[in-house]
Formats: sequence, C-alpha cells, structure tokens
Amino acid sequence: MRTRTIWWDSENRAIGMIDQTLLPERLEAIEIETVEGLCEAILALRVRGAPALGAAGAYGVALAAARSAATDPAALLQEVQRAAEIIRAARPTAVNLSWGVDRVLRALDKIRESATSDADEIRAAALAEAESIAEEDLAINRALGNIGASLLEDGDVVLTHCNAGRLACVGWGTALGVIRSAVAEGKQISVYSCETRPLFQGSRLTAWELSEDNIPVTLICDNMAGMAMRQGKIDKVIVGADRITKDAVFNKIGTYSIAVLAKAHGIPFYVAAPISTFDLERSEKDVEIEERDADEIRRLGNKQLAPAEVKVYNPAFDVTPLDLVTAIITERGIFRPPEMPELG
Ligand code: MRU
Repeated sequence: MRTRTIWWDSENRAIGMIDQTLLPERLEAIEIETVEGLCEAILALRVRGAPALGAAGAYGVALAAARSAATDPAALLQEVQRAAEIIRAARPTAVNLSWGVDRVLRALDKIRESATSDADEIRAAALAEAESIAEEDLAINRALGNIGASLLEDGDVVLTHCNAGRLACVGWGTALGVIRSAVAEGKQISVYSCETRPLFQGSRLTAWELSEDNIPVTLICDNMAGMAMRQGKIDKVIVGADRITKDAVFNKIGTYSIAVLAKAHGIPFYVAAPISTFDLERSEKDVEIEERDADEIRRLGNKQLAPAEVKVYNPAFDVTPLDLVTAIITERGIFRPPEMPELG
C-alpha cells in the first residue's frame, strides 16, 4: 500500500493522489494535470482533510508553474499567483489549504528578489517547497502522534469523528496518528468511529484505515455517541481540526455535539492538529464555514432520501469553543486551553 495520500509524479508533471471518494470499495490513485482538475478534486473531496489540503495547495502552485509555457519569469510568476488565488478559494474553512499555497508563494518571493532567476529556477523552487511541505507533514504527524500517545492508556477506548487519519494528511494521521503511535508502543487501543453524515468520512475512511491496520474499530451512527458515553463505553475523544482560532476549534460538523457530550460525561476531549492548523490572529466570527450542496443530504448516490425540494442546511464544519477542549496535541507539545502555542 502507498504510504502517501498525495505525491508529485515527476514523469508526468502531475499530482498523484488517492481518490478518497472511491473508498472503501476501491483504493485507486488519480493523476491531476491542471489547476482546474485540482479544484474539482478538492471540492469533490477526492483529497480532503486539513493537512492533505495543505500539501494539495502547495503541489497545486507547483503544478501551475510546471505546466505553464511562460519563459519570462515575471509572466510565470503572474500566472502562478492567479492559480494560487483560484486554489485558495476552493474550500474556505481548512486553513491549511491557503497555508500550503502561501508557503510556496513565499519561497517564490525569495527567488523573485534575485535578478538572475529564470523560469525553470522558479518551477524548481515551487516544487522543492511543495515536496518539503509533504515530507514535513509526515514527520510532524509522527512527532505529534508520539507526544499524544502519552495521553492514552493501555485498554483505552477512543471515540473519533470524521477522518483525521493518514488519508487526511500526507501520511500517518493526526487523531489516528496518536492512536497509531499508542498502538506502536504496545498499548491495546480500540476505537469508536462516528460515521460522519452526510459524506461518511468516518465509515468510509476511518473504519477502513483502522481495519487495514488491524486496530479494533466499532462503527456507530453520529447520534449514538451520547448513548455510548452514557453506557461507559468511551474513555477519551480525539478529533482533528481544520482551523484553530484564538477562541475555538473548527472541525467536521458534529464535533461540537460530541464535545458537549464529552463534557457532560466527564470524558477528556482532545484535539490533535499540527501547528499549521493554528490561526491565532482570528477568532470564531472571522471564519467562513463552508456550506455544501443540499443533495449531499437529500440524496445518497442515486437514491432520493428526502423530498427533492426540501430546504436543507448543510454546513461542512462546526465550531467548538475552547472551554470544551481538554487539550490540543501538536508536534510542539500538548497545550491545555487557554494555553496556546507561540506561533512564528
Ligand atoms: O470535509 P473534510 O472531510 O475535508 O473534513 C475533514 C475534517 O473535518 C477533519 O476532521 C480535519 O480536517 C482534520 S484532518 C487531520
């Protein structure tokens, strides 16, 4: 099995990625050759999860540079800048997407300052930065996992929501990375995975990933989390994050309800996220929550689940205030809000 969810195919000058919409039925890779193709893949959730989106954004800028016919460095940089804006706008809530795009643009700024740079040097610099981001993501998740594993005890049952596993990152995972690291230390950990309506990242991706790794997993519908907690089946909750502002954690819709339930049952609620997910300049009110197509709720494949015209509210993410968060696990250590990492 591939160790990476997203990669650069240098022979075809294309982005390779696992098409997550095909799982768990088929594990297949696709090649992305254009910025438009990348935006389609991001919107359709072929690639998804905050850290994976960071790498996708970075590779997207490298792709725009690699595929441009421009020979003049200034013209190439202009084209790359336009592509960066388009990629950045594909999904608004996960901060890692724009973070990945911006990191590559900043690397190009340094080249721009040197009068001798040519177009190929710019292409090479964009790709090198994107590759660094992808490599770093693997190392960061391993570090974060090892740090977070100290919070898990042998025999723990952990509830998670959505997919914050290797598919949501370049590899290893954040929330599932913590679980994987604890298992690698020899602890027996089992997982309750919420299916995560409406797009089923929990059942399609998390249950699949954990099963592949032989980590015991029990699938529940989202509305069963409270009952499982009440019956004493859950020791800890660990979820990922799409953005952490100075006052809240943005994550997959349903996370907030689980955090409230965890508090009511005295269960620790942990968030596992790399430093690139922090956006401490902003607060809850500054962040746009992506609203998705009504048919994600009204239909399931070809099956109509609700009246075709019924009104729907379909936010992709929700907001968990920090007072519900026991600790945030990062590659730089464990922070217990209101304590937060120093950025910069
Ligand atoms: O809409 P998605 O599937 O991209 O949402 C993903 C999540 O909410 C994940 O929990 C989050 O990105 C953390 S991934 C390590």
